[in-house]
Amino acid sequence: MKVKKAIIPAAGLGTRVLPATKSMPKEMLPIVDKPAIQYIVEEAVKSGIEDICIITSRGKTIMEDHFDRSPELEGRLLASGKQEMYNEVVDIANLANITFIRQKETKGLGHAVMCAKSFVGNEPFAVLYGDDVIMGDNPVCGQLMQAYDEFGLGCVGIKTVDADDIYKYSSLKVDLFHDNLYKVTDMIEKPATQQDVLSLYSILGRCVLPPEIFDILETIPKGAGGEYQLTDAMKILAQTKGMVGVDFIGKRYDMGNKLGVLEAIVETGLNHKEIGENFKKYLKELMKTL
Ligand code: UTP
Repeated sequence: MKVKKAIIPAAGLGTRVLPATKSMPKEMLPIVDKPAIQYIVEEAVKSGIEDICIITSRGKTIMEDHFDRSPELEGRLLASGKQEMYNEVVDIANLANITFIRQKETKGLGHAVMCAKSFVGNEPFAVLYGDDVIMGDNPVCGQLMQAYDEFGLGCVGIKTVDADDIYKYSSLKVDLFHDNLYKVTDMIEKPATQQDVLSLYSILGRCVLPPEIFDILETIPKGAGGEYQLTDAMKILAQTKGMVGVDFIGKRYDMGNKLGVLEAIVETGLNHKEIGENFKKYLKELMKTL
């Protein structure tokens, strides 16, 4: 069955980017002139996703406004002859069918995905973590959907992380299938000790899951950080049916931490058609003083 639906969990508290995220969702942090979540929605659409459910929470309604029409602004842009910007603003509202569901309590990524159970129904679906922006010509969600077509198993986007950092991520037990595709048979969220580390491969920001995951999510206890972890449910899927790890092609920016936000802005700014050249000049001058 083709994957046509995606969930973007964006209801977290964003405590690692405070105070910016006190009243502004981290998913709305701009990468130069576009909020992070728009990049993620565009990736899903480029991958062939038709219906998107964004999981939100209190204080995050500006995400809904961003993907809505904005008649007053549009009128002003038209009146002042800014047709190109008008088109861009209207296009945002027409990107996809977007539904919003509130997660009433911040109980973890597994719980956030569970909130979209009725939206998904009995179909496979993609999950794009709302604070992981991945840039590249070949959308990563699409790379996972292709692997799902090939294997018919749940798929996760994976990359190796530094040995010192693995404790902040998940760790996966992997065996090579072929090329950049791995069989995943076990995983652990935020390993506590070196003995718990299965490999330096970690899940970074994207999965495609069969609907059976909801039955598993209903049974799992709270995990790392006292939250319902999606990784704990995927672990059961990996151990029973097996999953596929896709060592994806693309550059990932973690918009959930301050350094990741800066990296995304600097690299996108350097390639920006309007300001890229001037920004490069500025950075070269600045480098001389460092
Ligand atoms: P994170 O664990 O990075 O989000 O979840 P967080 O809780 O906001 O992070 P801290 O507070 O800085 O540690 C990854 C994604 O899952 C969403 C987040 O919004 C983020 O996009 N999420 C997380 C939810 O939707 N609900 C939750 O209960 C937790």
